[in-house]
Parts: sequence; structure tokens; C-alpha cells
Amino acid sequence: MRLSSATMLALPLLAAAAEGPFEQYKAKFQNFLGSFGAKAPIAETNQVPIVNTGKKPKKVTEPKKVETLTLAGWNDSLFTSIKPESTKPEEWLVLISGRNNTCFGHCDKVEAAWKDASFKFAQLPSSPNLGYINCDDEPVLCNSWSASTGVFWAIDVLPPPAQTDILVKRLNLTTVTGQDIVDAYATRSADTWRKIDNDGWFHPIHGKFATWGVAVPLGYFFWALNVIPSWVMMVGVSFLSRSMM
Ligand SMILES: *[C@@H]1O[C@H](CO)[C@@H](O)[C@H](O)[C@H]1NC(C)=O
Ligand SMILES: *[C@@H]1O[C@H](CO)[C@@H](O)[C@H](O)[C@H]1NC(C)=O
Ligand SMILES: *[C@@H]1O[C@H](CO)[C@@H](O)[C@H](O)[C@H]1NC(C)=O
Repeated sequence: MRLSSATMLALPLLAAAAEGPFEQYKAKFQNFLGSFGAKAPIAETNQVPIVNTGKKPKKVTEPKKVETLTLAGWNDSLFTSIKPESTKPEEWLVLISGRNNTCFGHCDKVEAAWKDASFKFAQLPSSPNLGYINCDDEPVLCNSWSASTGVFWAIDVLPPPAQTDILVKRLNLTTVTGQDIVDAYATRSADTWRKIDNDGWFHPIHGKFATWGVAVPLGYFFWALNVIPSWVMMVGVSFLSRSMM
């Protein structure tokens, strides 16, 4: 009796301990996104409307929209605008980032560069869709893709059964600038970037784990391995081995 009530107490506690930090980060991250997406105020008051000058009004510089990819929504985000008959890939450039838990605080510089790059991409006549994953917020997604932080994924999305190729590039996290990101993307090739093997294990769309439908469960598994303290593991293993004997 005692044991069962103790277990009933302990389970929600464990769950709260596992979820708590991420919930907190999520809230923070939404604040961050809010400020990211906020438009610079345009001074409209006291301005005489310009009539018929024949010139276009000066364009307000805004960053290119960055879509946050989540475990539940990344596939929809990538595929929404894909028509079944299209043969030209829809290009995505995704920053895989993290804070203290997954990037050990080394992603600050690349985050700043990314923000700068989002302004630079907005100025270009053609640029990829921009995506963002923070592995502190999306640990299961990152684990299911076996994605490390501080890297860029260039994803050329094509309607299935056509293959969606993915190139991965790590830029120098201590020196990276927005221009580095724009240049690296513009000059990307399978020589200078690492291609994720379409028939390999972890390719999010064509990989073995994805096609077997086990990528997400594995993501949870690897995530749990990282999150569960080792003493809980040891207690679990000792219970298991005792009950087997
Ligand atoms: C992603 O979406 C595409 C197109 O809607 C679909 O064919 C594919 O099965 C989806 N993949 C996953 C892993 O959900
Ligand atoms: C990340 O780690 C640094 C240094 O250890 C600390 O100052 C900072 O508060 C931490 N940030 C978060 C969000 O926990
Ligand atoms: C990044 O750049 C710094 C400064 O140029 C250099 O010292 C460091 O070795 C570089 N790191 C990598 C991983 O190339």
C-alpha cells in the first residue's frame, strides 16, 4: 500500500521534472519569437502623404519570415506549398540551434548571424524558405533526426515519390556572420556540404527509421536516455534484473 501511494506520488513528480524545464523554455522562446517577428515601428504621424511623385515609397526593410519547425508540424510546414506535379524543389534553409541544454550556450553567435541573414535573404530576388529548430524546445525532433545543434540544413523539398535531398553544413560558431550564411547557402554543393544519405538511417523523410515509422519513438527513446538521471536508470535496471532472476 505504502509503495503504491509512493509510486503514485513519484510518477507525476518525475513527469513534471521532465517537462518543467522545456515548458519554461518554450514560453521564453515564444517571447523571443514575438520580438523577432515584431515590425519596426513606422513613423506615420506627421507625415504628409506623398501624392503622385511617380516614385515608389521607400521599402521598409523587414526580415524574411522564419518558420519554427516542431515535432508535430515540420512535415506540414515543409510540404504545404508542394504540388504533387511540381518538379522544381521548394528550397528550405533550416538553422538547428539550441540553448544551454543542447548547444551548451555556443549558439548565441549563430543565432545573431541568423537574424542578420534573415534580413539579407529578404533583400535577395530569390531566397529559400527559412526554418528554425531549437533543440532545447524540440529535443524529440532533434533526436529523431539525429540532428546536432549549430548546423544548417538545406532541404530541397519535392513531392513524394521524388527524393527530397538534404545537405548539412556547420559554420564556424565563433566567427559566423549573416553574410557567411547567405554565401554558404548560395554556393552549396554536395562537395562543400555533407549530404544526408537518402537510404541511410536518419533521413527524416526517406531514411529507414522514418519509412519504418520508428523515427519519432526512437526520438523519444534517445531523449529519455539523456533526460532520465543515471540513478533512475540504475534503479530501473536493478529492478528489472531482480525480477528476471
Ligand atoms: C509528409 O507529408 C507528405 C505530403 O503530405 C506525406 O506524403 C508524407 O507521408 C508525410 N511524411 C511524414 C513523415 O509524415
Ligand atoms: C546558460 O548558462 C549560462 C552559464 O552557465 C547561465 O549564465 C545562463 O543563465 C544559462 N541560461 C539559461 C537559459 O539557463
Ligand atoms: C573558428 O575560427 C576561429 C578564429 O578564426 C579559429 O580559431 C577556430 O579554429 C575555428 N574553428 C573551427 C572549428 O574551424
